[in-house]
Amino acid sequence: MSLCCYLEYIGVTVVIVAIVTIANIFSTKKRDLKGKHVLITGGSSGIGLSVAHDVARRGASVTLVARNVANLQKAQEEVEGTISSISGGGKVQFFSADLSSNAEVAYRVVKDAEASLGPVFMLVNCAGFARAQKFEDLSPQLVKSMMDVNFLGSFFITQEVVRSMKQQEEGVIVFTSSQGGLVGLYGFTAYSAAKGALIRLAESLHMEVKPYNITVTVCCPPDTDTPGFEEENKTKPIETTLISEAAGLFKPEDVARKLVDDALVGKFFTTSGLEGYMLTTLCTGMGPVTDALSFFSQVFLGGLFRSVSAFYLWSFGRIVETEHQKRMASKKVE
Ligand SMILES: NC(=O)c1ccc[n+]([C@@H]2O[C@H](COP(=O)([O-])OP(=O)(O)OC[C@H]3O[C@@H](n4cnc5c(N)ncnc54)[C@H](OP(=O)(O)O)[C@@H]3O)[C@@H](O)[C@H]2O)c1
Ligand SMILES: *[C@@H]1O[C@H](CO)[C@@H](O)[C@H](O)[C@H]1NC(C)=O
Ligand SMILES: *[C@@H]1O[C@H](CO)[C@@H](O)[C@H](O)[C@H]1NC(C)=O
Repeated sequence: MSLCCYLEYIGVTVVIVAIVTIANIFSTKKRDLKGKHVLITGGSSGIGLSVAHDVARRGASVTLVARNVANLQKAQEEVEGTISSISGGGKVQFFSADLSSNAEVAYRVVKDAEASLGPVFMLVNCAGFARAQKFEDLSPQLVKSMMDVNFLGSFFITQEVVRSMKQQEEGVIVFTSSQGGLVGLYGFTAYSAAKGALIRLAESLHMEVKPYNITVTVCCPPDTDTPGFEEENKTKPIETTLISEAAGLFKPEDVARKLVDDALVGKFFTTSGLEGYMLTTLCTGMGPVTDALSFFSQVFLGGLFRSVSAFYLWSFGRIVETEHQKRMASKKVE
């Protein structure tokens, strides 16, 4: 293809994306959260807590689920503060539960939450954590808990919520994966596997619940400034730090607002930043088609983004090689 043809191709793509964007603005039917019940796992901290503030501001009642009671109480007070600043706001309740422990615990939480605030209209699965370590250094216990919290911790609670949503014939389900769930990266052998599993779960569930007027959304946050990220950052291999720095650090409020906006219109992927847009567009595979803009981006920009990804992979490979050489050199000195 000559340069001018290629520019024409880009130009046409830009025009189509622009038209579709405008069409999207007018056609989108955004669901309303006023008076609805939103259940948020991991709602006592970070992205989950920001989602709680966001949906409370939109008039929803909120259930927060996490383990630590003191943090839950503090979060409840904070979200009540947000609610008091609007008129006709909802309520906030919390339940302390370890969602990774077993299915019965997760089922119980949903039943108790619905007993006081009514059927769950929106479920946001945010409970999770990341630890980056070299493959052979990951302890069996850490591998298992990353899978238990991130994957099973979302699986079981969603089962009970789906039972209820199918009866209501409406609902919004969100799984929090990661950009590291879209692509495997140095240090993330266990974490990427757990977060990647959530995407396959979401695709399958999307197909099952669509006839019931229930949408499924996967959030793939970039590095986000939260207590969880601070903890993860303490023990990262240098390679993981250098590689993930490329995309920058985002604010949890911004990630949360985008998550809620996208989930309410039923978009399959939600993310923040340019890298996030590129990754979700590139990694969609045979995922569901939920909106015109995402679909046209995937069709027209997929090839371009694959080329750009080669440059990223090349620079990541250089980071890994450089650190490897440094380690070899320091070994020789010893
Ligand atoms: N921050 C980032 O850079 C980033 C990037 C990509 C993806 N993510 C994902 O986004 C989600 C939120 O991350 P964050 O950074 O906001 O984390 P965070 O600040 O550490 O918050 C995690 C929340 O999950 C709860 N939780 C953890 N284990 C649990 C368990 N077994 N049962 C019930 N609740 C549990 C925590 O409360 P308790 O500890 O009291 O239980 C807390 O409320 C996670 O799934 C994370 O993997 C984050
Ligand atoms: C689907 O759910 C929305 C609210 O989420 C509701 O307004 C709409 O009436 C429902 N549609 C059908 C066909 O049940
Ligand atoms: C993460 O840790 C590295 C040191 O390992 C530090 O240079 C960096 O500033 C930290 N980033 C954040 C956002 O805390």
